[in-house]
Amino acid sequence: MKVQVCTGKTCKERFSQYILTRLQNDKELYDMHSVDVCECPCTGNCKIGPSVIIDGNVETHMNPAKASEMIREKRKQWGKGNKGGKRK
Ligand code: FES
Repeated sequence: MKVQVCTGKTCKERFSQYILTRLQNDKELYDMHSVDVCECPCTGNCKIGPSVIIDGNVETHMNPAKASEMIREKRKQWGKGNKGGKRK
C-alpha cells in the first residue's frame, strides 16, 4: 500500500505534517511495514485539503486520526482478500 501525504503549501498550513508524522509512527506501532508512507506535492485539492493519496485514490479533509483509522481499515480489508501475498 502506498500512502502519499500532501505537503504542499496549503495542506502544510493545515498541518499535514502531523498526518505524515502520525502515519510514520503508525507503521512501527501497528507493524505496517508493507505500507509506504511518503510526502507528495500539491494534488490540486487545496480547498478540500489536507489531502492524502492512498493507492492512487485522493482522500480529502484529512486529519491525523482520520488518516490513521482509514489506513488501518483499508489494510484489514486488503488482508482479507490477499492472504499471504505482497502488494506493491
Ligand atoms: S497543497 Fe495540498 S492539495 Fe494543494
